Amino acid sequence: MTLSALEVNRLKQAPAAEGVLPAVLGRWSPRSFSARDVSMADLRKVFEAARWSASAYNEQPWRFLVGVRDSLTHKKIFSTLIGFNQSWAGAASVLILGVTSTKFSHNGTANYHALYDLGAASAALTLQAASLGLKTHSMAGYDQIAARREFGISESYALGAVIALGYQGEPSSLGHEQLIALETAPRERKPLSEFVLSAWGEPLDLS
Ligand SMILES: Cc1cc2nc3c(=O)[nH]c(=O)nc-3n(C[C@H](O)[C@H](O)[C@H](O)COP(=O)(O)O)c2cc1C
Repeated sequence: MTLSALEVNRLKQAPAAEGVLPAVLGRWSPRSFSARDVSMADLRKVFEAARWSASAYNEQPWRFLVGVRDSLTHKKIFSTLIGFNQSWAGAASVLILGVTSTKFSHNGTANYHALYDLGAASAALTLQAASLGLKTHSMAGYDQIAARREFGISESYALGAVIALGYQGEPSSLGHEQLIALETAPRERKPLSEFVLSAWGEPLDLS
């Protein structure tokens, strides 16, 4: 029997870690999204969180193309997704394409941190969404050439991920067995000792 949305949400929470923000522990990426729309008020909060992210030279190079359900932008972003992502992401209330300017506006030189900054703003967006009870799911699986064509994005912008945003849906509504299995699988993470280092190859002693 398939687990309910509530049961899956419980299963996907990160284990309690004292002092860690609830939005960090509660965020996870579903593939099942419900028909419930995200309000414009909540959408505004999500982008306000992105707005206040740090960026190199305070360039704020990120741009977000936002498609709400039934809009042309939603349809266009959906059309660029690879087949696997199309099999689930169309149900999301909002589809967002993250784009970033690769040149500094003050002198026209290359901004090698443009994607870093877009990622930071996207992380803030994602955590704000989690704190509002919304879910996000990032996707690299889309056709960047098609996205540039659909929206007329010039070469001076780099493309990041597409983000599906909405309320979690019932896992059973995914239909396919493979998708349901992914939706109900436990989350896995590397231990801190693999990536928090005091010297190259040596874990920092956090005790
Ligand atoms: C940049 C990026 C690209 C991703 N691309 C895809 C994708 O194309 N399709 C997909 O189903 N999931 C995609 N994911 C979701 C990851 O698989 C997921 O975040 C990861 O397994 C960790 O799970 P969690 O977000 O629930 O913690 C992507 C995530 C990120 C951050």
